[in-house]
Amino acid sequence: MDRKKRILSHLNLSGQGLEIGPSHSPIAPKKEGYRVHIIDHMSREQLREKYKSHQVELSNIEDVDFVWKGESYADLSGKRKFYDWIIASHVIEHTPDLIAFLINCDEVLKDDGAISLAIPDKRFCFDHFRPITGLGQIIDAYLQKNSLHSAGTVAEYFLNVVSRAGSIAWDPYASGEYNSVHTLEDARNGFDRVMAKKEYIDVHAWCFTPHAFRLIMHDLHSLGLIQLREVAFFPTEGFEFYITLGRRGNGVNMSRLDMLKIIEAEAASGLSWKSAAQALDQLYARVRPLAVRLPRWVKALVRWAARRPG
Ligand SMILES: C[S@@+](CC[C@H](N)C(=O)[O-])C[C@H]1O[C@@H](n2cnc3c(N)ncnc32)[C@H](O)[C@@H]1O
Repeated sequence: MDRKKRILSHLNLSGQGLEIGPSHSPIAPKKEGYRVHIIDHMSREQLREKYKSHQVELSNIEDVDFVWKGESYADLSGKRKFYDWIIASHVIEHTPDLIAFLINCDEVLKDDGAISLAIPDKRFCFDHFRPITGLGQIIDAYLQKNSLHSAGTVAEYFLNVVSRAGSIAWDPYASGEYNSVHTLEDARNGFDRVMAKKEYIDVHAWCFTPHAFRLIMHDLHSLGLIQLREVAFFPTEGFEFYITLGRRGNGVNMSRLDMLKIIEAEAASGLSWKSAAQALDQLYARVRPLAVRLPRWVKALVRWAARRPG
C-alpha cells in the first residue's frame, strides 16, 4: 500500500473533506476531484511567493479556503460537525497546543468522521537526538493555552536538530554522519525572539516514535481530554508513521505496559526492523508457555493412546 492509500484508507471520501496545512504537497487535491476545503497559514498566492525559490512544484499549491491566524477551525470556517474527513500531514508536531488542535478538528468533524495524520518518526529525521515527548508536556501546554512555542522548546530545537549524510530526513536503513543543522547563535537568537517579542517560530514542538504517539492518544482519551480514539495505525515507512483517529475508533488493542515496553524498544533502536524484532520477541515471550504445553499435551495424548487396550 503506498503512502497516499495509507493516509486515505479509513476516510469516507465520498463526503466533504478538509485538508489542514497541505502547502505545496496536498494529499487529496481539488484538482484530482476530491471534495475538499483547505486551511493553511497563507493564501495560495502567498504560498507560491514563499516557495518560489524552493525546489518544489508550485502548481501543486491549491486555492486556500481559510487562511488560519490562530483561531479555532470552527470559528475560522464557520462550520461545526460538518466534515466527513480531515487530513493533516506533518502538521500536528508543529502545533503549540496539540490537544487544542485535536479538539479543533473534532469540533468541525462529524461524529462518524475521521482524521488521518502523517507524523514524522523522530528516530529518522532531524529530531533524532531530541527526547520523546511525554504526556505531561502536552497536558501542560493545553492547560497553559499555548499559542506560541516556548523559548525552551525553541532553544532545544535549534541546539539539537541534525542532518544525516546531508539530509534532514532518512529511511531506517540509512547510514552516514550526523551534523548539527544550527549554531549556538541560532539558538540564542530564537530564544531571544520568543522571550522579547513573543514571536511565533515554526519548530517541531513534539517528537514521537509511533507507539509514544499511540500511547499519548490512548491516555488523552482515558483522561477525558479528547473524544477521539485510534481507528487505524500504519507503522513507520521511510521517516513517517500514520494514524487515523475518530470518535468511533476502538483505540489501541494493547495494554499500557505493553506499549511502554515497545516504546522502550523503539527508543533503543534506530532501526525499525530492530524494534519490530524486539516487539515480536516480546510477543513470543507471551505465547511461549502455550508452545511448551503443546508437546506435553501431545505426549499425554500419545501416552493415553498407547495405554488403550486392544
Ligand atoms: C511541514 S508543513 C507540511 C506540508 C504538507 N502537508 C506536507 O506533508 O508536506 C506544515 C504546514 O502546516 C501548517 N500549519 C502548522 N500548524 C498549523 C495549524 N495549527 N493549523 C493549520 N495549519 C498549520 C504550516 O503553515 C504548513 O503549511
